[in-house]
Amino acid sequence: MKLLVTGAAGFIGANFVRLMLKGRGTGKYKVIAFDALTYAGNLANLKDFEEQEDFEFIKGDIRNPEQVETVMEDVGAVVNFAAESHVDRSILAGADFISTNIDGVRILAEAAVRHGVKRFIQVSTDEVYGSLESTGLFREDTPLHPNSPYSASKAAGDLLALAWQHTFGLPVIITRCSNNYGPYQFPEKLIPLFITNLMEDKKVPVYGDGMQVRDWIHVMDHCRAILIVLEKGRVGEVYNIGGGNERTNIDITRRILRLLRKDESFIEHVTDRPGHDRRYAIDASKITGELGWRPEVVFEAGLAETIEWYRNNESWWQAIKSGDYLNYYQQQYGRRGVIG
Ligand code: NAD
Ligand code: TYD
Repeated sequence: MKLLVTGAAGFIGANFVRLMLKGRGTGKYKVIAFDALTYAGNLANLKDFEEQEDFEFIKGDIRNPEQVETVMEDVGAVVNFAAESHVDRSILAGADFISTNIDGVRILAEAAVRHGVKRFIQVSTDEVYGSLESTGLFREDTPLHPNSPYSASKAAGDLLALAWQHTFGLPVIITRCSNNYGPYQFPEKLIPLFITNLMEDKKVPVYGDGMQVRDWIHVMDHCRAILIVLEKGRVGEVYNIGGGNERTNIDITRRILRLLRKDESFIEHVTDRPGHDRRYAIDASKITGELGWRPEVVFEAGLAETIEWYRNNESWWQAIKSGDYLNYYQQQYGRRGVIG
């Protein structure tokens, strides 16, 4: 089956491609990796597959109906990772969040209907449910209450996708996952920012009191959940995905400091993020009970391995921090695979 993976050059998309071409999904799919290569898209994340027959990269934007129409030809299933994904950026400038995370979903859904796509997985986030107090968990029937421009745009994208299922019969399934960590995460998010800052002997900026809670999951556990949903999930359903692993930001910070043998003088308490959600926590019993998925990576081991990955791939994140990665497409790839 031809599988269209949008946003494939980003953090989770690239890990998902790895699962499909070098992991559990191997042999079953031809992967079409489609990505606009925004600041968050990095072709270096996909270089291990460039020579594979069952892989093709196409540079394109989900907001461009012509490009989407062309790439949707003969596609059996879509997994949509393409999004603006960083809360802090959505607070600074929201326009791309609205156009990609909302209208991009509409454009993909319209083309998918026209081409009779058999599965449309909309990859979403637990942030659409808003913020929890110190108790309680997000369930799939928890009312949506997004608080940031990012989470509001993702919630709108989810609702549009579900409307396309209801109105046009597009076989949509939504996944809502908690905070991911692992290899290839762009060093603007908490864990990779802190790891790379400390490797450069820089301080780490902890927002506010650092007592905000996130439920951390290894990116490969998330990807394995998406694969199960793609193959066995029920159309029209939402599946929450979580690691069952709640940690405060200050706990994560201290853990990273210890693993990198740095002391607490590297912590810098900075002004809190406006509208900062206090706690996210997931009830993943639906996907566990119905589809048999379970997280496999223990957090302590996963975090240590992630630090090791950043240690061994310094050139990858140095190129991002210096801006050089933006030239990778031109240098390595020429114009092969470009539409238009
Ligand atoms: P990311 O920012 O690392 O990657 C996003 C990718 O989408 C990039 O490669 C970018 O170039 C591409 N993209 C952006 N706009 C595009 C457009 N208009 N057309 C085509 N491609 C475009 O994000 P990520 O962390 O890999 O997240 C992937 C998805 O998973 C997002 O939808 C996000 O909302 C969701 N999600 C992320 C997390 C997390 O912890 N990172 C948790 C739950 C859900
Ligand atoms: P982030 O990785 O941006 O993910 P999200 O906001 O989607 O949960 O942030 C995770 C948590 O870490 C969040 O509570 C904000 C906090 N944080 C900091 O304290 N300092 C930072 O520099 C960043 C990027 C995040």
